[in-house]
Amino acid sequence: MEAAKTSALEEFQHVDVSPVRNVAQDVLTEVSRVIVGYGDILQNMFISLLVNGHIYLEGVPGLAKSVMAKTFAKTLGCTFKRIQFTPDLLPSDITGSMIYDQKVADFVVRRGPIFANFVLADEINRCAPKTQAAMLEAMAEKQTTIEGITYPMMVPFICVATANPIEQEGTYPLPEAQLDRFLFKLWLDYPDPENEVEILRRQQEGSMPEVEAITDPEELVEMQQIVNQVYIDEVILNYIRDLVQKTRSDPQILMGAGPRASLVLMKCSKARAAILGRSYVTPDDIRDLLIPTLNHRLLIRPEAELEGVDVVSIITKILEEVPTPL
Ligand SMILES: Nc1ncnc2c1ncn2[C@@H]1O[C@H](COP(=O)(O)OP(=O)(O)OP(=O)(O)O)[C@@H](O)[C@H]1O
Ligand SMILES: [Mg+2]
Repeated sequence: MEAAKTSALEEFQHVDVSPVRNVAQDVLTEVSRVIVGYGDILQNMFISLLVNGHIYLEGVPGLAKSVMAKTFAKTLGCTFKRIQFTPDLLPSDITGSMIYDQKVADFVVRRGPIFANFVLADEINRCAPKTQAAMLEAMAEKQTTIEGITYPMMVPFICVATANPIEQEGTYPLPEAQLDRFLFKLWLDYPDPENEVEILRRQQEGSMPEVEAITDPEELVEMQQIVNQVYIDEVILNYIRDLVQKTRSDPQILMGAGPRASLVLMKCSKARAAILGRSYVTPDDIRDLLIPTLNHRLLIRPEAELEGVDVVSIITKILEEVPTPL
């Protein structure tokens, strides 16, 4: 058993993750020529991209959500589309429809904005549930059906859905089951005083710098294959199990996380390891990803909420309670 484990480890040590680390570093450096701060958000976006997952991004208006997504997509050499969600948006406005083409005297498919490598779904909580469902289904299934014919999404495919946390009127908050489909829920905080003045400095000098494409979709797919080969030890799998199971037994939690959360932690920790230049996962990879992975998957008991307990404090407590493997 021990011998088998050692040889598995040796084999995985040969996986060369440097292409992932180098591209990740270059992409993040390039994006930060435009975006001040938010290094952790950008790193998590890169992780999502490497595992073909999607992000739910909360933040008040004007925190560079649009600029960040657009700049990131351009740096990745990926196609980018933005969809503004409004109450009258129809499913076909997202997925596409058949239109009559006079030149060929027949109906042809007009693909909707979901067909891009990087899709920014702005204010996803502003449209009717039916349209949200069409969007989320395409995201989860990685395919969509237009008039009975199924079309695959592009590869890689990442969707960043944004929502304003305080706006309530005329919105349809996503149900928990839908939120579970997002890999991470991330928050954009206000910039700190130093970054705020840096944002001003950059813009008063004139136009924003143009970013260069550092990579392309083909190379991203190759990087996804490298990430698959990153080694994750049985000890780490048990650690993931213990953390996730703890959310189901904690007395302050009404609804704990399902196995989808465990899978997300496993896949994303491999991507994080590769980005940091490691061919194996460490407990720190899991610890770092636990809040973004779990914060939209737990429901706190109302009594605990009244006592001021929030999701982040519960996850932090779980991190302290579950022993970290050596
Ligand atoms: N951290 C930052 N780095 C660089 N520019 C920033 C930053 N924060 C805000 N800005 C600037 O603020 C402006 C607003 O950004 P943007 O339009 O992307 O915001 P948004 O979050 O998409 O807003 P909305 O919710 O209204 O769509 C842009 O000019 C952007 O460059
Ligand atoms: Mg915007």
